[in-house]
Amino acid sequence: MKKYNKAPLPFQGQKRNFIKLFNEQIKKLCGDGSGWTIVDVFGGSGLLSHNAKYTCRNARVIYNDYDNYSHRLANISKTEGIRKDLLSLVAVYKKKEKIQADTKEKIIEYLNSKNNCIDCFTLSSYLLFSGGTITDLSDFDSRALYNRVAVTPLNCSGYLDGVEITHLSFDKLMQQKLTGKVLYLLDPPYINTQQGYRKDTYFGLLDQLKLFGLMKPPFMYFTSDKSEIVEMVNNANFTFSDIFNGCEIFETKNQVGKKASYKDFLILKKS
Ligand SMILES: C[S@@+](CC[C@H](N)C(=O)[O-])C[C@H]1O[C@@H](n2cnc3c(N)ncnc32)[C@H](O)[C@@H]1O
Repeated sequence: MKKYNKAPLPFQGQKRNFIKLFNEQIKKLCGDGSGWTIVDVFGGSGLLSHNAKYTCRNARVIYNDYDNYSHRLANISKTEGIRKDLLSLVAVYKKKEKIQADTKEKIIEYLNSKNNCIDCFTLSSYLLFSGGTITDLSDFDSRALYNRVAVTPLNCSGYLDGVEITHLSFDKLMQQKLTGKVLYLLDPPYINTQQGYRKDTYFGLLDQLKLFGLMKPPFMYFTSDKSEIVEMVNNANFTFSDIFNGCEIFETKNQVGKKASYKDFLILKKS
């Protein structure tokens, strides 16, 4: 089985910085996975599900694909065809160079001819400045384009092998009764943000409170210093802080450019 340390198609918020630590901790907790069900509640790109299945081969792994990322994967060969054609169209440009109006016109004309097989997120990562996204091809008209087309061919073979896929809201999924030992992987969007492919991915205060109400150990909860979850965990006066009693906290530092950085946390509660 091939191991992926990053998702096969771009996905903002994927836990690639945590993969090594995640695999170590999940191995310690679930061994080869026998008797375990691992539920990746906020599955996003499926990167955690893939790694959980890779590391704990005998586990039942449920990838909750709320954004329909698996649909993007199912169309990866079409996206790969477009990537190759874009590479030819931008051949005279250096990496990250701004694309001139005449080439931009050709690109847009080409993409419009492929309208039924467009992966807007992947195309955004190829043609927009870092972090920019479009949701419709027409959004490119008003945007400056850059040559950020990937040179590595796209491939997702074996990525979701052996993983069960669901498409449920987290509350429906977490209310389902599961037998045996169950580990929840909880990587919710930051509060008051929208994330992903669908329009209804807004995650507000009520969602966060609902999630706290449904959480039971063992779980792995992912967050960062952009949220105040770790402060809450360390402050016994908050109503929900007991959910995290006895947990272990692991952190990684992420550099953004030369000056800014932020920390990501993995909060592990075993029982
Ligand atoms: C931080 S991302 C998860 C990233 C993922 N762990 C990865 O490595 O790719 C949070 C995900 O939760 C999804 N989401 C938003 N609202 C949700 C809901 N009500 N139920 C389940 N998932 C939801 C978002 O669309 C997004 O894909």
